[in-house]
Amino acid sequence: MISREVEHEKEIPEKITIKVVPPGPEARKIVELDSKYLVKTTKSLPVVGERAKGAFVEDVDGNVFLDFASGISVTNMGHVHPRITEAVEKQLHKLWHFAGTDYYYRAQVDAAKAICDITPGKFQKKVFFTNSGTESNEAGIKIAKVSTGRQQFIGFIGGFHGRSQGSLSFTASRAIHHKGLFPSMPGVEHVPFPNPYRNPFGIDGYAEPEELVNRTLEFIEKYVFRTYAPPENIAAFMVEPIQGEGGYIVPPMSFHSRLKKLAEDNGILLIMDEVQTGFGRTGKFFASEHFGVEPDIISLAKSIASGIPMGASVVRADLDFPEDGLHSNTFGGNLLASVACVATIDAMKNEKAVENAAKAGTYFKKRLQELSEKFPQIGDVRGLGLMMAVDFVRDQKTREPDTKLRDKVEYKAFQNGLLTLSTGLSALRLIPPLIIRESQIDMGVEALSKAISQSI
Ligand SMILES: Cc1ncc(COP(=O)(O)O)c(C=O)c1O
Repeated sequence: MISREVEHEKEIPEKITIKVVPPGPEARKIVELDSKYLVKTTKSLPVVGERAKGAFVEDVDGNVFLDFASGISVTNMGHVHPRITEAVEKQLHKLWHFAGTDYYYRAQVDAAKAICDITPGKFQKKVFFTNSGTESNEAGIKIAKVSTGRQQFIGFIGGFHGRSQGSLSFTASRAIHHKGLFPSMPGVEHVPFPNPYRNPFGIDGYAEPEELVNRTLEFIEKYVFRTYAPPENIAAFMVEPIQGEGGYIVPPMSFHSRLKKLAEDNGILLIMDEVQTGFGRTGKFFASEHFGVEPDIISLAKSIASGIPMGASVVRADLDFPEDGLHSNTFGGNLLASVACVATIDAMKNEKAVENAAKAGTYFKKRLQELSEKFPQIGDVRGLGLMMAVDFVRDQKTREPDTKLRDKVEYKAFQNGLLTLSTGLSALRLIPPLIIRESQIDMGVEALSKAISQSI
């Protein structure tokens, strides 16, 4: 028998390897313990990770999976990236934590500068470091309230912004998120999001992108502003450039710039939640760039430090709090997270990861479109860069969501060695690391195709 240490020294093969049908015996033991000792969350698949490298994850039974979930868009540079690992390892021997909101150290300043340099907006920016996406949005909400002196907000149906009380009040992608939790923060009004595949306005057949945008903005101006939420009360719009948990919904390309114009005309701020879309996922460093928008506040988290918990609210410098003490935290900008963040940005630049996401994304979309020609159950292939999803339908014409089939495909794909994640009512998100190669995309598409064949 090979000892555990020797096992660890062995390279993880760069191919899907299923030794026992997952979940295997070791995995099942851990899943059972998990349900005994951990509070219920959002568990999707009984995959139990042991170690990983690049786009591949080995589970506790020795199965090797191709990871098209990337820890929900966190390990964008692949698992255990050597240079990011080295940076964190080096810092581990120097200083871990030094209360970065009260005291000072270089790593936090370096990380803030690196983020200001890459985020959209030619104006001066400042950063508040957090530990998660929801906390980044909470910071954005506070900054918007204090800087405008206004207390109301507008969010979008289908949006997801987190689960703490402030950001939860914007989250509108699944009713379960709110069940038994009323009220969260008051003052958030929701409006429809211009979803081109299933438009919210009941427009028959294909909805022209411009018409969708017109209707959305008209709804805000005619119905919301004029009837119950005067624009003078609104501190900010909070919106995702592409709705993530809502089903990977890409709005028409003019939407965000027209929303920003509406905001500017009324002294309203634009908070762009790039927690899921940021850091190269869509083939640009930030998805806002696709839409030509410079948000006033950008919320970040997930891939910002490659899996060391970190988030950030990046704000126009003139929106900074007027005095100390209005907001702070304990772990924000922690040293390990800060060095991981700088190393992540360096690695992304050095390895041209964003460019690869754009190129590989084009190839991936083509392969998925081929798959949709083979399987009429795929009603839509959508996304930008490597933020891709396929939507399962009962009928191509009515576009009726097929949630059951989507869930089955997700599970079968897992048993065939491909990790994916559901999103929205009937979509499966496919988000490999940005460093993915075409041969690995082919491997994933093959596993997905097999899973669909086994599920229909
Ligand atoms: C767009 C968006 N905002 C916020 C969040 C919340 O992030 P966290 O789970 O780190 O609080 C998520 C998480 O999926 C997200 O996708």
